Formats: sequence, C-alpha cells, structure tokens
Amino acid sequence: MAISPSAYAVDFAKEILPIFEDKCYRCHGEEKVKGELRLDSPEAIMAGGEYGDVLVPGDPNESSLYVLTTYPKDDADYMPQKGKGLSSNEQKLLKQWISDGASFGESFVHGPEPKVKSKFEEANPVNERKYTIMGDAVETVARLHEAGLQVDTVNHDASRFEINYTYAERTAGSFDFGMLADLGDTLVKLTLARTDVTDGDLAGIVDYSNIEHLDLGRTGVGDAAIEHIDKLENLKYLNLRDTNVSDVGIQRLSKLKRLERVYLWGSQATEAGAKRLEKALGEGIVILGAELRGPARRSQRT
Ligand code: HEC
Repeated sequence: MAISPSAYAVDFAKEILPIFEDKCYRCHGEEKVKGELRLDSPEAIMAGGEYGDVLVPGDPNESSLYVLTTYPKDDADYMPQKGKGLSSNEQKLLKQWISDGASFGESFVHGPEPKVKSKFEEANPVNERKYTIMGDAVETVARLHEAGLQVDTVNHDASRFEINYTYAERTAGSFDFGMLADLGDTLVKLTLARTDVTDGDLAGIVDYSNIEHLDLGRTGVGDAAIEHIDKLENLKYLNLRDTNVSDVGIQRLSKLKRLERVYLWGSQATEAGAKRLEKALGEGIVILGAELRGPARRSQRT
C-alpha cells in the first residue's frame, strides 16, 4: 500500500507518545507489561502483545491499539483499563496517525508487509472499481449519517466506503441494509460489532458482494448467519469473536477463497474446527482465537 503523506500529518513524538505515556505506560511500559504488550518504543508497539499485532499501519479498525480505546467504558476490554480514557480528540489523532501509515519519524522504518497471495487471488484480481464520491454520493453519505450510521472512506480512498452500525440504535430484526444500496460496490467494510443484529438480518448483506471486512464481534449471531456470509466472495477479514458460531458454521467459510483472517475468540468453535478450516482454505489464512476457549478466554461483556 502506498502511504501518502497527509497535509495534516500527525507527529508521533509530539502528539501520540504523550497520550501513551499519560494513559498507557503504567500497564504497558517498563514497570508493568500487561497483555504482554509494551507501548514505549516503536519496536515494542510493532511487536504486538499476547494476541498478536496491535497496530496495522494504514488500518485503524484493524489496530486494537486504537479500537480498544473506542469501546464503551464499561466494556471489559476497554483501554485504558484504569484511569482516564482517551478524549475524543485523542482518539481522532490516534486514528488519523494510523490511517496515515503510523509513521514513528525518520528513525524507524516499517518493514515490508508480509503478504501471502492465495492462488485464487492471483488468478482472479479484484475488478477495478470506477465509482468516485461526487455528486449523489455526498448526499448518500449525509443521509446515512442522519440515520445514525458512521460512514467513512477506507484509507481516504473515495471509492471504498466503510459503515459502522455499532453506535446506531437498531433493534434485532430491524437492520435496514437496503439503505446502503446507493453505496453498492463501494461498500468494502461493514462493522456490526456489539449490535443486536440477528442471523436473519444478515440476509440483507448478500448483495454487497464487495465487502472485504465484516465485524460481527460480540453479537448473538450463530451458524445460520454463515449461510449469508458465505456468499460474500471477496471477504478477507471476518470477526466472529464472542458469537455463537460453532464448528458447523465455520466449515461453510471454506468456500471463501479470499479469506485471510478469522477471529474466533469466545465463539463456540473449537481448535479442531479451526484447524479443519485452515486446511480447507490453505496457505495464507490466519485463524485466531479458537484455542482460547475455556478459562483462558477473555472476559465477555454482559
Ligand atoms: C490499568 C492497566 C492498563 C492500562 C492503563 C492500559 N491497559 Fe491495555 N491492557 C491491560 C491488561 C490487563 C491487558 C490484557 C487484557 C487481556 O488479556 O484480556 C491489556 C491489553 C491491551 C491490549 C491487547 C493486547 C493484545 O495482544 O491483545 C491493547 C492493544 C492495549 N491493552 C492497549 C492499551 C492502550 C492503547 C492503553 C492506553 C490508552 C492501555 N492499553 C492502557 C491493562 C491496561
């Protein structure tokens, strides 16, 4: 991914480091290392924690370092776990810094991203999209905002949109995915984490076949949801953390040849089930979390 310097580039040393110092070091610094994570050097941040990477340059929504600071304060995984949380301005800075490529300044250069392309991906390059956000799209975005949805472009690319329902008030059975129709092919990320979305509601997402990233973490969805999800043939990331999805459901995912990452912490899937899926999908797939079932699994929000 080419990282273009933004006109408002966030300065790590001046703007981000002080936030970590103030709000994170007491548990992720020299003295205490909670979650096997230290945040007091670029190398340590890039090394990640107990569950792997915490920062994905260019992708704030894949960076737990940012995402966990945006959880509701009563969430067991909210960061910082104690003390004053990030202000909305600090959250914005952190998000912007990651979107812009998470530069630590000249003294630290990110290594090349290790990326294994599946054979399917090589043979089937994603079609070029011709859509740009102009004219009508501006209105569409305004309308979605009004409906309580968060709408954003992915990495400032005006032909790739992400929608977040987490803070929109929707009751089970009333997820109105039809209202996203104007985004069509440009909808590539959909976040439904911590909502009341049901298996049945998800029937409405099958038309958005360019979705690459789907977050259903901490919802009540189960195996029936996968009967819809398995039609999203461009799906790369799927978060099923703390859901009721089991081995039966995840086996259906073996159709999705572009899948790169599946999160299963706290779901009903077992390590054996995850291994079977891994085998079916072949090289390049990373399945996280099924082995953490039982006492070691992370706390659930009640
Ligand atoms: C009072 C202690 C405390 C503070 C302050 C704190 N954390 Fe944590 N953090 C923890 C603990 C404990 C864990 C491990 C939780 C677990 O394993 O479920 C953790 C885990 C994490 C993880 C996950 C690591 C992984 O591999 O999954 C991230 C990311 C994180 N913290 C980011 C932050 C950030 C960013 C801040 C500052 C804004 C912060 N934390 C402040 C206690 C704290």
